[in-house]
Amino acid sequence: MKYKKAESKAKGHSEDFFGDYRDFWWNESFLKLLARRLSLNECYSMLDVGCGQCHWSRLLVNYLGSSDDRPTRVCGVDSDRKWAKGSRELREYFAKKGAEFELKKGDAHELPYEDNTFDLVTCQTLLIHVPHPTEVIAEMKRVLRPGGIILCVEPNNLVQSLTKSSISSNDPVDEILDHVKYALLFERGKKKLGQGDNSLGDLVPGLLAQANFENIDVRLSDKAIAMYPPYDTPEQIATMKQWRLGDRWNSTEYSDYDYFKALGTEELDFYEEYVRKYAHLSERTERYINANKYHSAGGAMMYVVSGTKPE
Ligand SMILES: C[S@@+](CC[C@H](N)C(=O)[O-])C[C@H]1O[C@@H](n2cnc3c(N)ncnc32)[C@H](O)[C@@H]1O
Repeated sequence: MKYKKAESKAKGHSEDFFGDYRDFWWNESFLKLLARRLSLNECYSMLDVGCGQCHWSRLLVNYLGSSDDRPTRVCGVDSDRKWAKGSRELREYFAKKGAEFELKKGDAHELPYEDNTFDLVTCQTLLIHVPHPTEVIAEMKRVLRPGGIILCVEPNNLVQSLTKSSISSNDPVDEILDHVKYALLFERGKKKLGQGDNSLGDLVPGLLAQANFENIDVRLSDKAIAMYPPYDTPEQIATMKQWRLGDRWNSTEYSDYDYFKALGTEELDFYEEYVRKYAHLSERTERYINANKYHSAGGAMMYVVSGTKPE
């Protein structure tokens, strides 16, 4: 297909988004607070669903409980063979933390674990990629022990199309609306192709309520990666590197073109026109950065939603 990424086949799911910048997604003080609020030190076993390279469980393992008769146990499930295989570095990382570590290949809609197995079942940016989040949440509940905690970290990604920067803050309203429309249609097309809803975060608390979880608690991550000259902090360097890779979501199978095509001729025409009209934008950003004139607070909307399985 015309716009399909030729090299994408060899890559694992989300691989373009597993750069160093992902290590800067959280403030340590926020995680400490989260761990205290949820009493994570009383959770000894954790399942990370859609674990990828385990960026999320690598952080959470630091707050889990551990004792001589109950060592910490971290399990990860991913449908991508590459991530389910793991790596020596990953195994060494968890071994150093004194945690038992296991990865399995499996579909989140049918988790390869017995009922009532884990104290904590969690996911980070998984539900936004699955076709049936309600079924996945039901599965997460099934493998959770009664009284155990579900913890879902999922964004609204649409808001980013309205984030201002020093360059864009005076752009014409119609242009800003074009960016919002692009983001919205992109999400609709992705969903239509069964690739999930990129802003599902808004709906997760309600989905937990429908699944009869108790003590539902909804927070927002307090992380913002602000960009301002000279862009030289480790998180700014990693984030800028990510931008240069391209900041739009592409799955291993589909590109933006496919998502717009799935919606119909009118949407595909909008796509073609948008690509043509705004082709200069990356170059404009690059120019401003090189001139030390780009800045933005870098806000994002990442929901942190938890609940407990009834006893
Ligand atoms: C955006 S990545 C997030 C990875 C990891 N949770 C993190 O935050 O770094 C989404 C992950 O979900 C996995 N995934 C997508 N659909 C899945 C499914 N139906 N079952 C299991 N894993 C799935 C992908 O392979 C990928 O590793």
